Amino acid sequence: MAVWMVLLTLGSLLCAIGGASAAGPKILTSPEVTAGSNVVISCNITEVPTAVKGHYWMKGETKLDSNETTLDFISYMIPKVDHQTSGEYHCIFETVPISKGTVYVKVQPYVVAYKKTEHGNEGDVIALTCKCNSYPPVTQWTWYKMVDQVPQPLVNGTEDRFYIKSNGSRTDLRILSLNLEKDPGKYMCNGSNEVGEGSAVVDLRVRSRLAALWPFLGIVAEVLVLVTIIFIYEKRRKPNEVPDDDDGGSAPLKGNTANNKDKNVRQRNAN
Ligand SMILES: *[C@@H]1O[C@H](CO)[C@@H](O)[C@H](O)[C@H]1NC(C)=O
Ligand SMILES: *[C@@H]1O[C@H](CO)[C@@H](O)[C@H](O)[C@H]1NC(C)=O
Ligand SMILES: *[C@@H]1O[C@H](CO)[C@@H](O)[C@H](O)[C@H]1NC(C)=O
Ligand SMILES: *[C@@H]1O[C@H](CO)[C@@H](O)[C@H](O)[C@H]1NC(C)=O
Ligand SMILES: *[C@@H]1O[C@H](CO)[C@@H](O)[C@H](O)[C@H]1NC(C)=O
Repeated sequence: MAVWMVLLTLGSLLCAIGGASAAGPKILTSPEVTAGSNVVISCNITEVPTAVKGHYWMKGETKLDSNETTLDFISYMIPKVDHQTSGEYHCIFETVPISKGTVYVKVQPYVVAYKKTEHGNEGDVIALTCKCNSYPPVTQWTWYKMVDQVPQPLVNGTEDRFYIKSNGSRTDLRILSLNLEKDPGKYMCNGSNEVGEGSAVVDLRVRSRLAALWPFLGIVAEVLVLVTIIFIYEKRRKPNEVPDDDDGGSAPLKGNTANNKDKNVRQRNAN
């Protein structure tokens, strides 16, 4: 019993200490931004734990040139809110420990096709890819096949041939065993987040298996034509070049003997 009570008391004491230290600095940040030009974002620190030795802005790994005014206030101007300037802006006050606030600059997904046109061979596997590098990440990706300008959603696993794999910055539509009749056309990827949605189109072209053979078949056809021409030429040339050939002479002779025999028979009959 006593041990439990001691432990409980210790626990609540630790909690109180933890809560007190967490309540240390207060940073008031400007509200999140979703549009505009020359937008100024700011942080204002109050109840500093120790003296503020300096402050700066960070976006990802990049330190930004801040538009600073006083020690407990820091601002930064965003020239244009777009996919490139979107992100998490951290204002950092050099106290001990460091104090940090975050201003969110959010845009609708800026979606681009990795390749606008993809070429595949009939029967092969192909992957169509869309990317989004704006902030915040895409929470929902959807793929559509355009049929007469109307988008038809492609569900993961359709026909056991269409598979979708996505994360916050990228989506891949894999098509197994490409079909020459059904698969060519335009595919649209739509990404959405809390701000809105964005999309891109990939044009898929499928070549017939024969198409890959055409150059080879062309050569075969060429060779066949040449061989035929040579053959015909040789056949035509033979009688002129070798007129006194055995075959050429003997045939009329046989014909003559046959005629003679015939004549003899007819003559005998007449007699
Ligand atoms: C910082 O916040 C405090 C308390 O809310 C406020 O009194 C003060 O005017 C703010 N300073 C700036 C520069 O916004
Ligand atoms: C800082 O911001 C103010 C207005 O907010 C602007 O007048 C000034 O030019 C800015 N300074 C820099 C260095 O960006
Ligand atoms: C689609 O299905 C495959 C397996 O059938 C799975 O690995 C993948 O995560 C699924 N993708 C989505 C977006 O649900
Ligand atoms: C998404 O997946 C790609 C590769 O498939 C990877 O490079 C990237 O880091 C992933 N992004 C996220 C946000 O998980
Ligand atoms: C796809 O996203 C675009 C915006 O980029 C939107 O106009 C369109 O309606 C979306 N398509 C579908 C089918 O949701």
